[in-house]
Amino acid sequence: MFSFDRRDFGPDFTFGVATAAYQIEGGQGHGRGQSIWDTFSATPGNVHNGDTGLQACNHYELWPQDLDLIRDGGFDAYRFSFAWPRLIPEGTGAVNQEGVDFYDRLLDGMLERGIKPYATLYHWDLPSTLQDRGGWMNRDIAHWFGDYATLVADKFGDRLAATATINEPWCVAFLSHYLGIHAPGYRDLRAAAHAMHHVLFAHGTAIDALRASGAKNLGIVLNLEKSEPFSDKPEDMQACDMGDALFNRFYLGGVLKGQYPEVVTNWLADYLPENYQADMEVVSRPLDWLGINYYTRGIYKAGEAGGPAIQQVKGDLEKTDIGWEIYPKGLSDLLVRVSSEYTKIPLYVTENGMAEVEGDDDPRRVQYYDDHLKAVLAARELGADIRGYFAWSLLDNYEWAEGYNKRFGLVHVDYETQKRTPKASYRSFQGLLHNTR
Ligand code: FCB
Repeated sequence: MFSFDRRDFGPDFTFGVATAAYQIEGGQGHGRGQSIWDTFSATPGNVHNGDTGLQACNHYELWPQDLDLIRDGGFDAYRFSFAWPRLIPEGTGAVNQEGVDFYDRLLDGMLERGIKPYATLYHWDLPSTLQDRGGWMNRDIAHWFGDYATLVADKFGDRLAATATINEPWCVAFLSHYLGIHAPGYRDLRAAAHAMHHVLFAHGTAIDALRASGAKNLGIVLNLEKSEPFSDKPEDMQACDMGDALFNRFYLGGVLKGQYPEVVTNWLADYLPENYQADMEVVSRPLDWLGINYYTRGIYKAGEAGGPAIQQVKGDLEKTDIGWEIYPKGLSDLLVRVSSEYTKIPLYVTENGMAEVEGDDDPRRVQYYDDHLKAVLAARELGADIRGYFAWSLLDNYEWAEGYNKRFGLVHVDYETQKRTPKASYRSFQGLLHNTR
């Protein structure tokens, strides 16, 4: 059980759980087009154990019981993502009616159960046909994405409590085009620099498209880390500044101030799209809220000369099953920083949670949530306007390059039988939230 009371958060605070389409839906076929995660995961060597999202949690068919779990847990809201290739199989053009019907059922199912839908337009499953045309490296993606946003607003906008454009632009751009760890698996400076700018230009273009269609309560979800230097030597401090700029300030500064950090634009000067400055007004369109995904801190040390000259080192705090340090103070520090340095719009913690070894008894996860929810309270005390908190994740699911090996769920999934079993962490939320919705 948690060591605080729901009333500590006030009556208007939103508690929710989060998932993403590719990680849980399965349900391939049904008119759905191919995505970059289908082909990336089918390529040997990219994903642990060669796992793919072909079946995942079969949420495509089992969604009623998953929504029941959200309702029975006492959660107010569900953060889910639309799969672009399920709605528009080729990325642009023809719409897949079966896909529209699926999200119609899902949204109506949420509303029938009193759950508020928090939608994400893009959680990494780019239609493969758009990748063939350069994907996030091609400036035209802003318009492809804008048209997709319009479709979502037209078909579903009346039922959405909030809409985010992009989930974690750092992952879409840097992790996937510079570090090569996620689809499409590029390791190329020009690819990365183009994707970094285009993903934010597409975000702003989609905000315009959504507003033009009458959609309300619009935001973006950034993954932020607490960046810390390995030592107070000037070269480590400098590496930390660069790490922070690449991970945090590029996206915060771009979206909220229309400005990228100079250390990054200097490093990437030869590779950024020509005249990117002219787009910054669109990149920084006013938002109604900002989502922050938080998991851990990053520790930086001076790296080899050339490139960003940074090296990340492992810290000595207790780690989750995926090797990430448990550092709740990083969450309160970040929330206070965003609120004092960047914006006064409402903030939401849109993801937070931990990977733990398989099992229904997960006391370390209960403790993790307890400590991080207290960190949210601490940040509120210090003036940050935090309106909600979403646990990652409702279910054990397909953890990208880690496949099914890493489990983040409040609910255990047996992938052979698709049986769901609530864990102790789920029960803790239920105890906190029960009968208060
Ligand atoms: C975030 C992703 C989410 C999940 C968690 C563990 O970066 O948004 O899909 O994989 O990490």
